[in-house]
Amino acid sequence: MQKGEEWFDQWFNTPYYHILYQNRDFNEAETFVKKLSTHLNISNVDKVLDLACGKGRHAIFLNKLGFNVEGIDLSTESIQHAKEFENEKLKFSTHDMRELYKKEEFTFILNLFTSFGYFETEEEDLLALKMIANSLKRDGYFVLDYFNTYKVINSLPEKLVIKRPEMDFNVHKYLKNRHVMKEIAFSADGKDYLFTERVEALKNKDFLKLFESVNLKVINTFGDYNLNLFDREHSDRMIFVVQKQ
Ligand SMILES: C[S@@+](CC[C@H](N)C(=O)[O-])C[C@H]1O[C@@H](n2cnc3c(N)ncnc32)[C@H](O)[C@@H]1O
Repeated sequence: MQKGEEWFDQWFNTPYYHILYQNRDFNEAETFVKKLSTHLNISNVDKVLDLACGKGRHAIFLNKLGFNVEGIDLSTESIQHAKEFENEKLKFSTHDMRELYKKEEFTFILNLFTSFGYFETEEEDLLALKMIANSLKRDGYFVLDYFNTYKVINSLPEKLVIKRPEMDFNVHKYLKNRHVMKEIAFSADGKDYLFTERVEALKNKDFLKLFESVNLKVINTFGDYNLNLFDREHSDRMIFVVQKQ
């Protein structure tokens, strides 16, 4: 598949994606980055990269806490919005995480709210992780916040209708091979649409293998935004803190 034709390049760039997810929890995002910045001991001189930042909710709040932050995302639409919040210590750019952004520039790289596992091949996952390892300074930290795959798989298949003032979304989630699929059907402006989100059902052991292959060492695995430890039966999230060796 050509770049630009992939599902994540198309869907995340539509206005409908932002309508569906308009109720994203900003308070939760703020509590999380506050706890994370304390836990990681981020200082005012460190550079932080929010990788796949979307419209920049975490990056903007981290900057409000006084940190030096850059946000990158593939979606031009989201970056255009995020740029309105730029200042001397907060910058945004459009960038594909499979390509090197800046070599050994960042002490912290964050990839939050299941913004990984979208690619067609495992080689592309590795390309993204190599990019992350190359962009980190030595001893720098990478934080990857993913859904708890074990719990998600147990809840499938699932069908639901999500109502928004603009339209209703018919959502069907199911497991197909090694992917969690989410079909999103809706009508807008007299046309019917169907988009499919596809995220790899990567488990703890899969991530450990991927991290090891790019020399990133797991330091902590948390299970929620309050930084309680990961428990595969009960946790909502699977949040890895890994360090460049
Ligand atoms: C679930 S959203 C999360 C956005 C943001 N982290 C948040 O919590 O609001 C996933 C994001 O990943 C971005 N993305 C998808 N593929 C990407 C790629 N190859 N390189 C960079 N960003 C990508 C999408 O454009 C989208 O903004």
